[in-house]
Amino acid sequence: MQLCFATNNAHKLKEIKALLGTNFELKTLQEIGCNEELPETTDTIEGNSAQKAEYVWEHYGVNCFADDSGLEIEALNGAPGVHSAYYSGERNHARNIERVLKELANEDNRKARFKTVITLTLSGKSYSFEGIVEGVIIETPRGTDGFGYDPIFVPEGYDQTFAEMTLEQKSKISHRSRAFAKLVLFLKDHS
Ligand code: IMP
Repeated sequence: MQLCFATNNAHKLKEIKALLGTNFELKTLQEIGCNEELPETTDTIEGNSAQKAEYVWEHYGVNCFADDSGLEIEALNGAPGVHSAYYSGERNHARNIERVLKELANEDNRKARFKTVITLTLSGKSYSFEGIVEGVIIETPRGTDGFGYDPIFVPEGYDQTFAEMTLEQKSKISHRSRAFAKLVLFLKDHS
């Protein structure tokens, strides 16, 4: 089956290709002739992942899946959420972290979770798969690996931040891996 992964991230594509095996001919956006920015204008993580996958089906007639992720902090009513990438007003991880820490100053409730939603659109019908990892936001960033909010997020049951873990360690428990595992199971059943 031909299937597009709506991403321009070569690293994500390689990882998912390895998980899916040879039953699927996985295509990038470029490979199906889609060179425009996909719309991401809804106000939820779920909405944005569906919007991207459905856009590809509607405009290119190719079965497709798209992912969207974000950090949800309980004391901030779920912010930064869908705005995670640009929370400081620009796509800058250090500034985004700074804003979060400022907003959480004097806050005892440090609970947070990372969430990924993947939408798969097959012949116009959409299915969604969610991956969540619960944890807490610490007061001072630690670690140099990873990206985004990794230096301030400690997953439940661990002492290290995501940025102090190796990619292999993070991948075993991450929101993204959990959502992708559900997608892979579903696709294996449907191939
Ligand atoms: P995306 O939908 O995967 O591009 O994620 C959107 C934004 O959420 C990123 O730019 C990061 O700010 C944040 N984010 C998502 N996943 C992670 C993660 O695994 N670690 C840290 N930050 C993340």
